[in-house]
Amino acid sequence: MSFLSDTLARVKPSPTIAVSTLAAELKAAGKDVIGLGAGEPDFNTPENICAAAKAAIDAGKTKYTAPDGIAELKQAICDKLKRDNGLDYTPKQVSVGTGGKQILYNALMATLNPGDEVVIPAPYWVSYPDMVLLAGGEPVIAEASADNAYKLTADQLEAAITPNTKWFIFNSPSNPTGAGYTHDELKALTDVLMRHPHVWVMTDDMYEYLVYDDFEFVTPAQVEPGLYDRTLTVNGVSKAYAMTGWRIGYAAGPEQLIGAMRKIQSQSTSNPCSISQWAAVEALNGPQDYIAMNNEIFKRRRDMVVDMLNAAKGITCPTPEGAFYVYPSIAGCMGKTTPGGKLIETDEDFATALLEENGVAVVFGGAFGLSPNFRVSYATSDENLKTACERIQAFCAALT
Ligand SMILES: Cc1ncc(COP(=O)(O)O)c(C=O)c1O
Repeated sequence: MSFLSDTLARVKPSPTIAVSTLAAELKAAGKDVIGLGAGEPDFNTPENICAAAKAAIDAGKTKYTAPDGIAELKQAICDKLKRDNGLDYTPKQVSVGTGGKQILYNALMATLNPGDEVVIPAPYWVSYPDMVLLAGGEPVIAEASADNAYKLTADQLEAAITPNTKWFIFNSPSNPTGAGYTHDELKALTDVLMRHPHVWVMTDDMYEYLVYDDFEFVTPAQVEPGLYDRTLTVNGVSKAYAMTGWRIGYAAGPEQLIGAMRKIQSQSTSNPCSISQWAAVEALNGPQDYIAMNNEIFKRRRDMVVDMLNAAKGITCPTPEGAFYVYPSIAGCMGKTTPGGKLIETDEDFATALLEENGVAVVFGGAFGLSPNFRVSYATSDENLKTACERIQAFCAALT
């Protein structure tokens, strides 16, 4: 009998964390490595938010809280959902957790039984399939195509749904592609869901505020009010407010589901950090002007990275609408050999050789379920990005 659980054998460790760890190890060993793997803004948490946390400590707000969040934060979330998304929720329909990650996990744990299927568009955020597996369900991967800028079409969604489908996980703007669905593109998907009343939608709106040019963010329950009763709208403060370490995420949805998620949280982490919750109240209720300032920087970096990658031999890189990632195709590099003598048969081969031979750490597309690609996070300095892209260009130019 194995000491470790059978469930554990179903999942793999996060490949994005593995890349960051390898890059850090190489750096520590004195190698000149630029890491483009980070999934977090390189900005500091805004001062007003830090001040709210310090005030919470000074006021002794350092005790256990209600399992799924303090009343003030739940109200701030309801106000945000009304203000930004036109969605009506009461505090009883809101759950706050230790990051968006825990919220998604709680929802899956609360609802999945053996045999239940969860439709996940690929390329996907690395954690979705493994969370589904941990919760005892079956991930069903619906592949989007490069021709459609890595966005799922109505036909592709329709084809993935079976009588066993419980959830459709939707993420726009996307990690890893940065692709954002327009109102019409999302409506095409919600029309499909309206024909399948047994399927619920888990929408991960984590990158809502990180959108560029004139792109307008939309979320499923807003585009199709008919889905309100079977939608869990997930969001958080990690990305927009540079608060990844504070660990606050939230969701709004039907009361029964929120209650089930609360039960799980009460028996696992008890509650999200009290101090972080007060910081999140300030993030949602306080000034929002730094989001636009940060977005200007992100947009400038996105444009530079897209241009420089498209200038690399064998790489094609679409311009995404949001997040801080690009997801170039490297179909034109497959079957070639590096100066170090390595044959590139997969995108993992490409990423490994790029790191070892030219000192740039990216995450290979296979980790996100769609190849041959790699993900670049441009949440790092302009200077780092420029040097890294020059190295990628040199790497590609030297392939034979
Ligand atoms: C698409 C997506 N959802 C959820 C999360 C989790 O965010 P949090 O830091 O709030 O747990 C991430 C973080 O990388 C993400 O990229």
